[in-house]
Amino acid sequence: MTRPIAKRMCEFLREPAFPLATGHLRLSQQRAGGRAQSRWRVECSQKTQLRSITASAKQSSGRNTAENTGDVAPKPGMARFMGPRPTRLVVAITGATGTPYAIRLLEILRDLKIETHLVMSKWALATLKYETHLSEAEIRSLAHTNYTARDMSAPIASGSFQHDGMIVVPCSMKSLSSIRTGFGDDLITRAADVTMKEGRKLTLVIRETPLNDIHLDNMLFLRRAGACIFPPVPAFYTRPKTLEDIVDQSVGRMLDTLGLYVEGFERWEGFRKD
Ligand SMILES: Cc1cc2nc3c(=O)[nH]c(=O)nc-3n(C[C@H](O)[C@H](O)[C@H](O)COP(=O)(O)O)c2cc1C
Repeated sequence: MTRPIAKRMCEFLREPAFPLATGHLRLSQQRAGGRAQSRWRVECSQKTQLRSITASAKQSSGRNTAENTGDVAPKPGMARFMGPRPTRLVVAITGATGTPYAIRLLEILRDLKIETHLVMSKWALATLKYETHLSEAEIRSLAHTNYTARDMSAPIASGSFQHDGMIVVPCSMKSLSSIRTGFGDDLITRAADVTMKEGRKLTLVIRETPLNDIHLDNMLFLRRAGACIFPPVPAFYTRPKTLEDIVDQSVGRMLDTLGLYVEGFERWEGFRKD
């Protein structure tokens, strides 16, 4: 790490409200081969409590100047911890059949007051006309923020936009293959790519039947890369009475994969006693 970056990290972590800076900060200089050429290292142990931040900057060269110790006074306007942000999900709808799943998911997320960022592909807009009585505008109104699939400058195209995961529901075989290769030719596949590179949750509600070798290979690859492959296959042990029951059960399980535990759909609780 270069010295200015190490020094800046120390400044940042010493902010009293920064939740991770709960230990000792150590900015040390490592000399390479006895020459003045040096590397800077920041160590942050998280042993002590929040606010008892000790910047025990030591330097291996022996001289104890403020510049070398990294013991830098906080400056006005420096980084501040922003506090908790709302829970946010990116929801993408592609041109596979299954728009009712996406609609139900958006309704539930709205009720849970989870911030949703919605993007629909061109073929999603074509397909939804056959599958639902809701118009495009009505579906968009369920989301917190909307984007067009062509808008590659949208916040969700960047890893710096913080969110808690993404779901592509339904996910066509075309979008699946684009995500697998990292092609990122539209906002959906770019946002999925970014979600994975940032190590966030990605659930792909793939829809096709039967599946060929290419589909299966793409799914296996993405599964190994960390995505959740979720074919919306109904569970009949819940004895669904309506199509809505089937959709609700699948959507509940989709939310499980994103770490959101909701009630209101049946889960397997062992054999019934009655
Ligand atoms: C009514 C309809 C249903 C479709 N269902 C599927 C499907 O279940 N799975 C799939 O992979 N493609 C399906 N397609 C084809 C996709 O819409 C097409 O491959 C499209 O290029 C996908 O693009 P997108 O992923 O950008 O939305 C369907 C198309 C139509 C018109």
